[in-house]
Formats: sequence, C-alpha cells, structure tokens
Amino acid sequence: MIPESFIQDLLARVDIVDLIDRHVRLKKTGANYSACCPFHSEKSPSFNVNPTKQFYYCFGCHAHGNAIGFLMEYQGLGFVEAIHELAGSIGVAVPDERREGGHAPRRETLRDLSELMARAREFYKASLKHSEKAIDYLKARGLSGEVAARFGIGYAPEGWQNLKQAFPDGYDTPELLTVGLVVESEEGRRYDRFRDRIMFPIINAKGEIIGFGGRVIGQGEPKYLNSPETPLFEKGRELFGLPQAREALRAENRAIVVEGYMDVVALAQHGVGNALATLGTATTREHVQKLLRQVDAVVFCFDGDAAGRKAAWRALENALELLTEQKNIGFAFLPDGEDPDSFVRKQGKATFDRLIREAMPLSSFLLSELKSHCNLANAEGRAALVAEAKPLLLRLSTPILRLQLVKQLAAESGFEQREVEQLCGIKSYMPPKAPEKPKRNAPSLTRKLARLALQRPVLVERIPLEELPPSQERAMLEVILEHLPRLPSEPSYAQLLEYLRGHALEAEFEKLAGELIQLPLADDKVEAEFSDALTRLQENRRQGEFKDLQKKANQFGLSGLTAEEKERYSQLLLEKNSPRQKE
Ligand code: UTP
Ligand code: MN
Repeated sequence: MIPESFIQDLLARVDIVDLIDRHVRLKKTGANYSACCPFHSEKSPSFNVNPTKQFYYCFGCHAHGNAIGFLMEYQGLGFVEAIHELAGSIGVAVPDERREGGHAPRRETLRDLSELMARAREFYKASLKHSEKAIDYLKARGLSGEVAARFGIGYAPEGWQNLKQAFPDGYDTPELLTVGLVVESEEGRRYDRFRDRIMFPIINAKGEIIGFGGRVIGQGEPKYLNSPETPLFEKGRELFGLPQAREALRAENRAIVVEGYMDVVALAQHGVGNALATLGTATTREHVQKLLRQVDAVVFCFDGDAAGRKAAWRALENALELLTEQKNIGFAFLPDGEDPDSFVRKQGKATFDRLIREAMPLSSFLLSELKSHCNLANAEGRAALVAEAKPLLLRLSTPILRLQLVKQLAAESGFEQREVEQLCGIKSYMPPKAPEKPKRNAPSLTRKLARLALQRPVLVERIPLEELPPSQERAMLEVILEHLPRLPSEPSYAQLLEYLRGHALEAEFEKLAGELIQLPLADDKVEAEFSDALTRLQENRRQGEFKDLQKKANQFGLSGLTAEEKERYSQLLLEKNSPRQKE
C-alpha cells in the first residue's frame, strides 16, 4: 500500500493543467481550461480542467477526476501505476510499498520488465528480416512490410536458446522468466518460450510491450502461444491493436472488436484501422468500458457459427450495464466459415464496411437469442421468454432502450406492455414532458452549501448538518466531513476525490463537480457566499420553527404552549419584527 499521505502530497504538488496539457492541448477559457474531450468524440469542447480545484470534468460524457484519475483513464493505467507515473513526472520516488504483500509491482520494476519486452521485440523484428520462411508466410497471408512494421510483427527463430543473444547477461536475468519470455525446465535449464513462431507484440495504451502472441507457421499446436499472465499482462483488460487503432477510433468514433490477431492485422491491411482483438479471452466488462470511453459505438464482429454467437452473447452480457443512450453496441456476424481476415480479403473493404454499418443492434440480438431458446408456439414458451429477459432488462440502465425491448417482448410474447413490465418488476417509462427543455429547479440551499463545501472542504465543519433535511446533499456533506481529518488543512477537491473512488455517492459528487465548473466562483467570494447561505439556512429554520409554534398557538391558544415554547415564540416574533431581519 502506498501511504495515503504520500498520495495527498503528490496531488498537492502536481498541476493537473500541466499534466493534461501534455496529452490534450488545453485552451484557457475563463476560470477553466478546455479542450475537445479525449474520452469521447466531439466537435466542440466540453472537457474542462479546473486549475484551482485540480480536477477535470466533461459535460458531454461526464468523465471526471483528479490527476491520478486522468492517467488511469487516459493511459489505461492501474491505480498504483498512475501514482508512479505521476510521481515520476515531478521526480519524486514513491515510498516503498513492498512490505504490504507486494501485490502492486513497483513502477521501476515494471518499466524494466517492459524494457526487456521491448528488447525482445527488437530481436524478433531483426530475426524476421533474416527468415525467408517467415517473410513468405506473412506475404502469403497478404501482409505488406508496412503493415507488418506498424504492428511490430517479428519472428522467433527455430532453436531453444536464441533470445539469449539479445541480453547482455543472457538467461541470468531472472526477469526473463517473470515476463514469460523464457521457461525453466525441471532440471533448471532455461530456454525460449517462443520458437519458430510469428510474433505479435501486445502493446498497452501507453505504448509499452506487455506480452506477445506467437503463431506457428503453417500447422501445429497450439496455433497461438501467448505470453502468460505476468505483472505486465492481464489478459482480461488488454486489447490487441489499441495503439495502432487510436487514430482510426477517433476518426470513425467506432470500434470493431474481433477475435484474432490476424483479423486485426488483415483489416488494417485493407484500410480498416479501427479493429481490436481480445486476447483469446471472452470480452470482459473492462474491455467494453475501455472502448466506450473512447468511442460512441462498438461493433462485435464474430463468426456466424455457434461459438461466435456464444462469444457475442458473453460480450452482450458484459456490455448491458455500460450502455447509455449515447452509446451504441452492435453485432455483426460473418458467414459460416469466415473470419474477418478471410472475409475482407475475399470481399474487400466496402463489403466489410457495409457488414459493420448494418450490424444488428444489441436489442435485436438480445431478442433473437432469447427467442431461439423459447418455443413461442405455446404459453409456457412465451412466459419463459419474458422470464429469461427479466434479469437482462434489469441490468440495462437506459430507459428508452428498455422501453423498446419491453414493447418488442410484449409483441412476441402476447402479453400487454404493462404486464411485461409488471412481470419484470420495472417501472413504466414516462418520457419527459418537454424533452427539449428539461425543467430546471433553482438549486436548493443545501445544494449550494454542498457545492461550496466541495470548493473548500473545511467549510463543512461550520454547517449544522443535523439540521438539514435528509438528502443527497446532506449525505455528501457528511462524506466530506468524515474525510476531513485525513485531508491536508486546505485541501483541493482533487485531494478529496481520492477518497471518493468507488464510493456509493461518486456519481452524485461528479454532478456537483460539474456544477462547480459551470458556475465558477472566485476563491475570495466563497466566504461571503457561504455565510450568506448559512444565514439563509438559519432564517429558513427560524421561519419553520415560528410557523410551527404559530400553528400550535392558533390551534390551542397560547396556553397550549409550554413555557419554553412560549419564550421561544416571543423571541422569534421579536426577531421577525426587528428591522435588521427585513432587509
Ligand atoms: P482463431 O483460431 O480464430 O485464429 O483464434 P485466427 O485469429 O483466425 O488465426 P489465423 O487466421 O488462423 O492465423 C482466434 C484467437 O484466439 C486466440 C488468439 O488470440 C487468436 O487470434 N487463440 C487461438 C489462442 O490464443 N491460442 C490458440 O491456439 C488459438
Ligand atoms: Mn483467421
């Protein structure tokens, strides 16, 4: 574990504007800096960075976070990695966290490990140049030297101990075992894991090589040998082809997920640059999440056979909860026996593009799969359809899409829409009355207080929390109060954010932070606004109290009040009539 105080310190020392500007050109706009959002595609900038509070917020996709969060999202780093990266950027060392179980590898080692991988890749690339057999194989598969270079494709030569040459200490470097390039026999002999294989480097969002996939030339088992899971390489999180696809992802605002290394490479060869592959694993939630951060549409392109549909279904299950109204997920199925590689080679880019454009929307795929299990000719089958749909519908967070599905389910099952909703335990969706102009309530006093406390967390100590009616805002204020003792004396919102990662109220804080950006308040105005809000709060409370007492007095007469109440009542009456209160 990295000490909390170190993280807080780090956040106080780095400048998020500086950090983000290194990746995304920022422009000063009033109190904030802004840019087109790096997390979704857009034409006008809704991504904002607030220099005083040290956080970013996007009005388009609601991406939001501090410097650590930015590195995690933008570079796909883990929490610990992001901290190391950030610390490195200002030249400080992260305190040793090895004692604590050592589950989080230190950045320094990680860098060394990926440097070993980079060196191995150079070796494989050089070996490819000298192997006629490997070159012929790639040519026969239709790849140009240019595309091979773009993906860093190489060749691991025949023989057991070639990689040795690439490292000064040969196999005495134990990290070669750690990264899975070298294997040790029972007798302790070390030898190359990859032999006589075409090598596909797997590169993470930062451009570091974290693994390899090695294909046999021609026939052989296994067809692909992959790097094992190592401190660098977590299969369920990574996608093959991500750095190569980045530009095309932006341009197309769509990602195509395929199954194989060669599919990605062959598509790129034919001018389809936005394809990525999962690494011999099913599509995970992390995969989908990673992609939906970058593009608005993801199309899964799998074989049309049973295995392909099963893979697609897994992807669907992992995507359901991540869908929003702005995001699109589709499924394109290839003719039996084809994969994207063979298909694009035979049919060309235009036909492949059409296949992707005409991908089946998630809702149609969901329904058609469910229907294929249920015999709709009888009542049991139709009831089963609704029963099977229920858990899936409940995971959808998009009311409009859910409504569409409910309607289709109703039509298929012969139930009324209302009945389907009841059976599934979901509320009937009411479209907003005037969708173009959402109703805007004046922000409540509590909300204002919460916003001010977000801007300057110490203020929360001066708010009489127990007097606030229960609300999200009060809950947020309580959270701030709870963390105050662990924060530095003048914490920025960024520092507080560190404690909100994964918190139940994270989304609420996110909204509040958005308001902070929209309604910037100069630091020297905060105190005045705050006292004003507190005064109004007290006045409201007094008025409420007065009204209650007045009501009681009207009902039961003054004698119906206790002595204390009487005193309070006259005091409030007096205050009410004093000129000071009138202004
Ligand atoms: P496929 O068997 O569909 O291979 O496996 P492919 O991608 O079409 O490869 P080519 O065209 O025959 O060269 C799809 C993916 O499953 C993983 C790999 O990631 C592969 O790209 N896989 C497959 C393995 O990891 N190991 C294997 O032995 C086979
Ligand atoms: Mn193939």
